[in-house]
Amino acid sequence: MNMQRIETMTGNYNLENYEEMYKNFNWEEVKKEFSWYDSGKVNIAYETIDRHADNPDKADQTALIYTAPDREEKLTFSELKQKSNQFANVLKKHEIEKGDRVFLFMPRSPEFYMSFLGILKVGAIAGPLFEAFMEQAVRDRLEDSEAKMLITTPELLNRVPVNELPNLEKIVLVGDTNSSDHIDFYKEMEQASKSFDIEWVDLEDGMLLHYTSGSTGKPKGVYHVHNAMLQHYQTAKWVLDLQKDDVYWCTADPGWVTGTSYGIFGPWLNGVTNVIVGGRFSPENWYKTLQDYKVSVWYSAPTAFRKLMSAGEDAVKPFDISNLRHVLSVGEPLNPEVIAWGMDAFKLRIHDTWWMTETGAQLICNYPALDMKPGSMGKPFPGITASIIDNEGNELPPNQMGNLAIKAPWPSMMRAIWKRPEKYESYFLNGWYVSGDSAYKDEEGYFWFQGRLDDVINTSGERVGPFEVESKLIEHEAVAEAGVIGKPDPERGEIIKAFITLNDGYNKSDELLEDIRQFVKKGLSAHAAPREIEVADKIPKTRSGKIMRRLLKSWELGLPTGDTSTLEE
Ligand code: WTA
Repeated sequence: MNMQRIETMTGNYNLENYEEMYKNFNWEEVKKEFSWYDSGKVNIAYETIDRHADNPDKADQTALIYTAPDREEKLTFSELKQKSNQFANVLKKHEIEKGDRVFLFMPRSPEFYMSFLGILKVGAIAGPLFEAFMEQAVRDRLEDSEAKMLITTPELLNRVPVNELPNLEKIVLVGDTNSSDHIDFYKEMEQASKSFDIEWVDLEDGMLLHYTSGSTGKPKGVYHVHNAMLQHYQTAKWVLDLQKDDVYWCTADPGWVTGTSYGIFGPWLNGVTNVIVGGRFSPENWYKTLQDYKVSVWYSAPTAFRKLMSAGEDAVKPFDISNLRHVLSVGEPLNPEVIAWGMDAFKLRIHDTWWMTETGAQLICNYPALDMKPGSMGKPFPGITASIIDNEGNELPPNQMGNLAIKAPWPSMMRAIWKRPEKYESYFLNGWYVSGDSAYKDEEGYFWFQGRLDDVINTSGERVGPFEVESKLIEHEAVAEAGVIGKPDPERGEIIKAFITLNDGYNKSDELLEDIRQFVKKGLSAHAAPREIEVADKIPKTRSGKIMRRLLKSWELGLPTGDTSTLEE
């Protein structure tokens, strides 16, 4: 097989001719696909679920298939409409209003999706949190957003510092509870009416806050508005190529942007059956899911593909995954080896897609009907102008590496960083949104990812800010200073490596290092805990006191240290 270029596969795809469409595309046309184009009544939850529920041909189609080791449940569009209406009524009863922040902190479950949609139906802003977060991570997000309500489970409640969050007025508990302090999800759902008058909003009204990490400071709240539906819908149609009879599975958790844009909106705006898998990853479970639900379109991440790849051919052999017709990837660079494995294991190309929490939806992609160059993220979506710019905001010629930038705005672009206007402004230069990734574009217009330009770590496709981890590390009694970097790793992309100095009276030992690791894991989250900790004599800092992570990285990789003129004495 020629791995320089993999030609388009045969099939009837929604986007037949990329180049042609790129030339003529206009977002205005997409607006006509929505009921608000005629009715003037806007709400993303309506377009996602109710519109199909109100259509006799679609009402009884399965919208959601939930599968976990101990539970399987299916809900039609009509049922999902009713359930989310019921939850919207619960929210109303407890005085949740348009613009209020309502957070969700619980495992993937049908209740999550009912609640999430209910929040949007009252015009409130949903803040999904990954269930693996520990107290500090939960506190930071609830504090910053001034969330008024949290929906969680009795098991996770002890990670919520309830009494230290003055804005948090109410907690909804999903699960067995005798607590009279909190709202009982099941009890109140039972009493709630199945009909609800949706709160109609403006396209520019807020609907979602996703917290994400940067290289400095606490995680920031990336604010998205209802208007994003235009791009969720159109990219799911052309990139995911969702068609009427597809069964679609996105493996991402809704605590991350992929799990909302393409785990909720993309598939349901297109009226497609959506598989949600709970429980832990194992190659057998995943292949079984593909087989049992006859999954046809599958969106996952390089780290998962690499795990499946290392499980070998024997892991896939017992399963019939012949319904699979389209596979996609996001989150980190998709290695050509993985694409070659996919051609072997599935007889399909794995389509890489590039985007970020801030961009709200896919921007640079590989398309079913376009030749693919393994290792390239593909080409900009129609309606999107992407380029490589220098630090002054000038466009660079082909094959020159620089800042990957997108001409602002586009429909799903974030509209703010919560309460931090100056942070938001800092993303833009000369009319370009500057991504923080470095890349180049080749003569044919394909984009090639090169790396992050800041210190943000990408471990198994998850963004981790070094500052957050460093802050937690130095809370440990033994740790004086800490510097955290991403270290290349064949399976996880990068792992988190911490350099620390110890306080007087502490000596390095395996037990101590493990204790420190556990401290971060229990305080912040498992994925933020350093896999490697090295005790150093000193952490390199600039004269102004900034940790020189670049230098730590060069040491780690045995590379030349470059310019160290700002290093403190
Ligand atoms: C990285 C995930 C290489 C990139 C949707 C970006 C990628 C960050 C790719 C955003 C890709 C995402 N190839 N790198 N196809 N997709 N990234 O906000 O560094 O969790 O800036 O959004 O992941 O991560 P985030």
